[in-house]
This record gives sequence, C-alpha cells and structure tokens, in this order.
Amino acid sequence: MIAVPGSEDHARRLGGRLGVRVLAPEIRQFPDGELYVRIDGELGDDAVIVGNASSDNFLRIAFLAGTARDLGATRVGLVTPYLAYMRQDSRFKPGEGVTASYFGRLLSSTVDWLVTVDPHLHRLDSLAGVYTIPTTIARAAPAIATWVTASVEHPVLIGPDAESVQWVQAVAEHCGAPFLILEKTRRGDRDVSITSPDGAWNGHTPVVIDDIVSTGQTMIEATRQLRAAGSAAPMCVGIHAVFADALHEALIGAGARGIVTCNTIPHATNQICIADPLADAVRQHLA
Ligand code: R5P
Repeated sequence: MIAVPGSEDHARRLGGRLGVRVLAPEIRQFPDGELYVRIDGELGDDAVIVGNASSDNFLRIAFLAGTARDLGATRVGLVTPYLAYMRQDSRFKPGEGVTASYFGRLLSSTVDWLVTVDPHLHRLDSLAGVYTIPTTIARAAPAIATWVTASVEHPVLIGPDAESVQWVQAVAEHCGAPFLILEKTRRGDRDVSITSPDGAWNGHTPVVIDDIVSTGQTMIEATRQLRAAGSAAPMCVGIHAVFADALHEALIGAGARGIVTCNTIPHATNQICIADPLADAVRQHLA
C-alpha cells in the first residue's frame, strides 16, 4: 500500500485492517516545480495507492502508479475516500466542460480499479457513467447511524435537498429514525435557498445530513429554516469535509449545535471513521 503524502493516516488505518505494509514514497518538487517520485520498497502484484484524487494530487497519483508498474506491480488500484470532480456531471450552460467525464477518463487510464466513499452521484446512476475501470463504493451510512444513535437523543434526520434522500434514507434505516427531505434551489456557488420544513418536532432533534460540505451554505440555510420552523438546534453531519470556506461560526450563528464529518478528508470536524467499509471495499479488488 502506497500513501500519497497527506494520506498517511488513511493508509495506516487501511493497512492495519488489511494486514498490508504501508510505504511512504518520496515525492518532492525539483527547483523548476516538476515532481520527483521514488518508491523505496518491495511491491507485489497488487499495488494500492491511498490518497484523495484532487487537482493537486492527480499527477502524484499518476506518477506513483507509473512507478509502481515499473517496479513490478501488475495491478494498481486507487483508494480515494473523497472522489473529486463529480459535481460538474452535466453541461448546465453552453460551452461548459463536463469535468466529471474528463476526470473519470484520466483516472481510468491511470489505475486499474478505484474505491471511494459515497461519491456525488446525482444525475449519474453509477460511476460507470464516467469511469471505465471497476469501481466500488463504500457507504458511510452505517457509521453515521452509529454516531447519531450514540450522540443525539430522539433524532429526526433531515436531507437538505432532493438528492440527499439516498444517504439520509439509508442512515434512517440503520438507526430507526424518521426523516424529512427539504427542497433546495441553487442560484450560484454561494447562493442557495431551502424550503421551510413542515415540522411537528415533538422533542426530536434535527440532524442535517449531506454528502459534501463545501461553502457550507446548504447546511447554514437548512439550519436557518429549521430554527425558523421552531426546531431545536440541529446537529449537522457531512460525509466529505471539503470546507472551501471557514464556516463554523456562520453555522453556529445560524443556530446549529455543531458539525461533524466522516474522515474521508482530514479535518478538525472528523468524528466518524469510515476505515471499516473502505477496507471491505478494497478487499473486493485484491486477488
Ligand atoms: C449538492 O448537490 C451536494 O449534495 C451538496 O449539498 C453541496 O455540494 C454542498 O455545497 P455547499 O456546502 O457549498 O452548499
């Protein structure tokens, strides 16, 4: 198992569960900015690269995959707990690039298989819509349900938009809690509105669950609407802590109790570990 720099914790957690050694490659920049890559260690037939595929990491992953193959690996897989470039999965305005497809094509020509956690599948039914390699999706719902059960009394789960029903319903089934899906309209990157919930709260505490927390506007607006409808301070749970903006104060200011996330992207809010489902997903690809 090869850890992309910054993903050592993920790799250690997975390596421990799978009983495989974790190698820390040397990756540095030459003075001209180009990347130097070296893997110092023995590789078997299967090499597993662990690291989030993002704009910054793509070349590192591509060069690590090339180096692993040169060192004898016949299959190279990628574990990217957060799969970037899944949001622009369609051309919304003339002339826009459908980057989900282009990124899928690039990664599919770089590694032989891919494992990720709850990718942003809204308009696409499956990763096969943009990836040509075998992929497996690990689900965060059971781990989120365990956290909700242990941390929130009388929860009612809230999905902030129609797409969120897929994970909110799954969490609700695992923890036996009721759920409610709101409607969201996005007018811009930081401009969203959400319908007012029809709430008879009966002592329930709302838990807003979304896949990605980026600018946080979705969580902030959902919190505002819930509080305006008379609910208790909601707890916010995100799967992927993208956190493009510093949003903690705004979220608390809107009336939230707090925010926790799964550890797909290292962040101070990580409280829910998804290493077990990830390890199960990786096992499916190892010979
Ligand atoms: C949207 O379709 C996603 O499921 C999330 O709701 C969205 O990515 C959250 O973005 P933000 O935090 O910027 O509102």
